[in-house]
Amino acid sequence: MKKIVALTAVAGMTLAMADGAAIYAKCSGCHGQNGEKKAMGKADVLKGQSAADIEKKIKGYKAGTLNLHGMGATMKNMVKSLSDADIKAVAEYIASFK
Ligand code: HEC
Repeated sequence: MKKIVALTAVAGMTLAMADGAAIYAKCSGCHGQNGEKKAMGKADVLKGQSAADIEKKIKGYKAGTLNLHGMGATMKNMVKSLSDADIKAVAEYIASFK
């Protein structure tokens, strides 16, 4: 499935569409391939959180108003360039982890 998404992106067919899997590629180093890690030993695991909760948290980090574990500034840097559509797409992708 991931491969198909990547190939479509390369073909330029999803340019207008935010690709949650592609965005999550830069999150997995800290949060784990399936959202199973406590990022930097601080964050709660993402796996099992709802898309709505994740979306709200990412928007809070982007706005600089959320700091759950003392590392909000780190997360702000990670998400500041994401659009609302990107945030929704990556939140839905994370919420799909089994
Ligand atoms: C450099 C490591 C790192 C990367 C890369 C990173 N994060 Fe985080 N993330 C953290 C840390 C540390 C926290 C805890 C922040 C705090 O203190 O609130 C966190 C918290 C979170 C939370 C809230 C977790 C909770 O405790 O409920 C979400 C959601 C999240 N990150 C999503 C993402 C997404 C999406 C990306 C990629 C765009 C990403 N992160 C990239 C380190 C990282």
